[in-house]
Amino acid sequence: MTDTVSRMTATVCYCFGVSKDEIEKRLAEGETLDGIQATTGMGYGCGGCIRVIERVWGEDATPESRALVLNALERSG
Ligand code: FES
Repeated sequence: MTDTVSRMTATVCYCFGVSKDEIEKRLAEGETLDGIQATTGMGYGCGGCIRVIERVWGEDATPESRALVLNALERSG
């Protein structure tokens, strides 16, 4: 149960309260990463989430970088 809850609420951008699930839902609906950033502000605050965003959803993301970062996010909640 805890794993399911943390997976559903894993925060990517703390400055603007954007979760992994919100990003993945919006990408699945056809939005671009740039569009999500523009409408949420994600990445335009402290910038601390940029590396996460790039390693999970960026053009150079690999299955390995994605899995590594997502596992860390899920553990941190
Ligand atoms: S955590 Fe995303 S801009 Fe600060």
